[in-house]
Amino acid sequence: TSASLVLDPAFTVAPVNRRTFGTFVEHMGRCVYTGIYEPTHATADEDGFRKDVLELTRELGVSLVRYPGGNFVSGYRWEDGVGPREERPRRLELAWHSIETNQFGLDEFIRWCAKAGVEPMMALNLGTRGVQEALDLQEYTNHPGGTALSDLRAEHGAASPYGVKVWCLGNELDGPWQIGHKTASEYGRLAAETARAMRMVEPDLELVACGSSGSGMPTFGSWEREVLRECYDLVDHISCHAYYGDDGGDVASFLASAVDMDRFIDSVVASADHVGAELKSRKRIDISFDEWNVWYGERSRRTDGPGDQWEVAPRRIEDEYNLTDAVVVGNLLISLLRHSDRVAVACLAQLANVIAPIMTEPDGPAWRQPTFHPFAITSRLAAGTVLRVETSSPTVVTEKFGEVPTVDAVATYDAGKLAVFLVNRSVDQAIDVTVDTSRTPVSEVLEALTMFDDDRLAVNSATQPDRVIPKPAAVRLNDGSVTITLPPISWTALSLG
Ligand code: AHR
Repeated sequence: TSASLVLDPAFTVAPVNRRTFGTFVEHMGRCVYTGIYEPTHATADEDGFRKDVLELTRELGVSLVRYPGGNFVSGYRWEDGVGPREERPRRLELAWHSIETNQFGLDEFIRWCAKAGVEPMMALNLGTRGVQEALDLQEYTNHPGGTALSDLRAEHGAASPYGVKVWCLGNELDGPWQIGHKTASEYGRLAAETARAMRMVEPDLELVACGSSGSGMPTFGSWEREVLRECYDLVDHISCHAYYGDDGGDVASFLASAVDMDRFIDSVVASADHVGAELKSRKRIDISFDEWNVWYGERSRRTDGPGDQWEVAPRRIEDEYNLTDAVVVGNLLISLLRHSDRVAVACLAQLANVIAPIMTEPDGPAWRQPTFHPFAITSRLAAGTVLRVETSSPTVVTEKFGEVPTVDAVATYDAGKLAVFLVNRSVDQAIDVTVDTSRTPVSEVLEALTMFDDDRLAVNSATQPDRVIPKPAAVRLNDGSVTITLPPISWTALSLG
């Protein structure tokens, strides 16, 4: 069986958007405490940040980090997390049923971002709070000085404003599990009034309205329409969240998860453009895919149920990812890149321990899950412009998505350097792929890496951190094309120059 790809530098989607390589840090489980922050750890720096995790974050190629939630943000008082640590209150944290010590807050997060070399993206509490608290947080975060809250920030050690550009107007407020859950019209009004007031201070902020928490939500579609009818002119992006899992052993459908992501993005773009058309607006609303990943739930590693205990940083959804999950994550990134014309931001949820590419043990090592690798490699190699790729591929029949192409691919082109990212979704067939490079003169294979394993369920662990890693792939460079054999259930990256 074989497949072929045709690409041409003249047929472009959009420039590669670095914000595609965002992730997410929530006050949830051990993402913050014993994840990125552990003052007693052997590698902790003067701020209490784990240097091993900082290094892995840089290696992951993260561009932006969303913070502080997630469901957590909908009950959060940001003031609790600033000022002298010994005065910060311990609070009941309802979203994940734990105790929040507030030892890590906004000032620490911004310092951590600077050390990790990432852009902060802040989420506002529009669950239990409203316009005034959003304005207070904005003043503390972004106002230069000479006002109560900007001076308070300076008192806390940060004379210069933080200049946070991208703000989420709440989180998943369509979900009945959300603290302060709202109807679309209630939320749309609140998003509009919060955005209007924030823009009176800083007109150029990038504001994200909450879309649906998943395309399976009963209100999906109508939520986007109603929310955007209220706030279209006042926001820039609408959010998408999607998590995929290998439920019921239907591996073929799981491997085709990116087909669902493609359709999800296309439908939200259509909903947004529909409202734009109704309003006769020239403005275009783009997508902030600010939570995406593989998430199993029942297969979560060493996860405590909430029970009736209220604990500090309990283990929550510490999914252990395998090779198949890494292939799906690589494919989801292909889908996001392919939509670079409309996806303005994307965040792999989350960064450390909680459904995360980076795992840690308290007082112990940090290591890379298999899903770390396709993210890091795509972030490192994708550059310049995303190209439209014409793929001719055999198909595979899936229960959930019908007949879908077995090979999926995207490419980027940057001053004579071509990067191609490919997956083979077949569970048992290797596929020979020919990439027509006649319009992108390349004469050298700079890198060729594949994620594949004879055991599709192979995982990494603290004791075997490199069991699943990318391996060199054999590529044949011909006159005007390259050929490569993709093993079944594999993800591959090629860099040609
Ligand atoms: O990332 C975990 C959770 O998933 C987030 O808190 C929430 O927004 C989503 O439901």
